[in-house]
Amino acid sequence: MIVTVTLNPALDLTYTVDALVPQATNRVRTVAERPGGKGLNVASVLHALGEPVLATGLLGGPTGAHIEALVRFPAAFVPIAGDSRRTVTIVDATDATGLWEPGPTVTGAEWAAFLDHFATLLPAADAVVLSGSLPQGVPHDAYAVLVRAARARGVPTVLDTSGEPLRHGVGAAPDIVKPNEHELAALGQHPTDAIAAGVRAVVVSLGRRGLHAHTADGVWRVPPPAVVIGNPTGAGDACVAALARGLRAGVGPGVGRGGGNDPDNAGVAVGDGREGSNNAGVAAGDASEGSNDPDNAAIASLGNGHGGTTWAAVLADAAALAAAAVVAPVAGEIDLTQYQTFRRTMQGVQADVQPHR
Ligand SMILES: Nc1ncnc2c1ncn2[C@@H]1O[C@H](COP(=O)(O)OP(=O)(O)OP(=O)(O)O)[C@@H](O)[C@H]1O
Ligand SMILES: [Mg+2]
Repeated sequence: MIVTVTLNPALDLTYTVDALVPQATNRVRTVAERPGGKGLNVASVLHALGEPVLATGLLGGPTGAHIEALVRFPAAFVPIAGDSRRTVTIVDATDATGLWEPGPTVTGAEWAAFLDHFATLLPAADAVVLSGSLPQGVPHDAYAVLVRAARARGVPTVLDTSGEPLRHGVGAAPDIVKPNEHELAALGQHPTDAIAAGVRAVVVSLGRRGLHAHTADGVWRVPPPAVVIGNPTGAGDACVAALARGLRAGVGPGVGRGGGNDPDNAGVAVGDGREGSNNAGVAAGDASEGSNDPDNAAIASLGNGHGGTTWAAVLADAAALAAAAVVAPVAGEIDLTQYQTFRRTMQGVQADVQPHR
């Protein structure tokens, strides 16, 4: 099972208006609500793929109860006294305007309770996803603490956050870090430094230009299967979902469980783009492992039949899944039909020895 951690979840409200007029009363046409927060988006994508997933984090107050009631996948949150936050996005014909509430302040005792809860989840976890911002009161090194706790139990981690939590988290060497370009620039560290410090892969998402991945086994440039029009919010979360199930499947030499010493993996992972492309195609049709839902078995599989998978397959999957998330109108959702098409038509992963700029 993949555990996703969302320490600062939100009730995402979307108001549709004809034309937003500041300093005036605006009549709202439609109101939509959904559970928000990056870890919940990742869990939602994994669940849609048939991957066993458990969402955890901190929830409190009436808004927290409402978020919990809207969640459609397995979840086990730690209660807090403060009320979870709401985010409001006002959409009109031309643009979107966001209003983000500050959210609750978490007490030391609540954070300690979460650490205890997290420890109880690790024995059943194949991979852990740590995503999003930290609420007030949670220490800046929270993700570093969780990365170390997971590693102590042999559980690999993916980290997707920004600012100080990212800087501290990278210092604990999670298996994969997924910054976008802005988050990487703010980190002020070259991906190769993070690799040298023990991070297995730094996957830099470049919006519609795809991914640039530094791994311990080589550098990859991964184009999107197609540049699509849609809602890019949450595309990074879909990308993280693919990386997490790559860890679960045992990606590359020495990463995750089961794939560590597979010579086939190593051969493909350092091979050329054509090998990566072929492998992604094979993985898309391999229903032998990776799913708990027979209907979704084919799309959920990443395994290569040798007890692991390759960076090439995982990165191709990430680009396909992210593009399928852009096509779906709502963050945290993917267009499954498009995803299968993208997986089949993926142009492949090209090894690229140029340093990241
Ligand atoms: N228009 C697009 N067409 C195809 N693929 C896209 C498009 N936009 C983004 N992607 C894919 O989605 C991935 C993640 O996008 P992006 O870099 O915007 O993530 P992000 O900034 O972390 O987003 P978020 O945090 O909102 O989820 C990209 O690396 C790319 O593969
Ligand atoms: Mg992101």
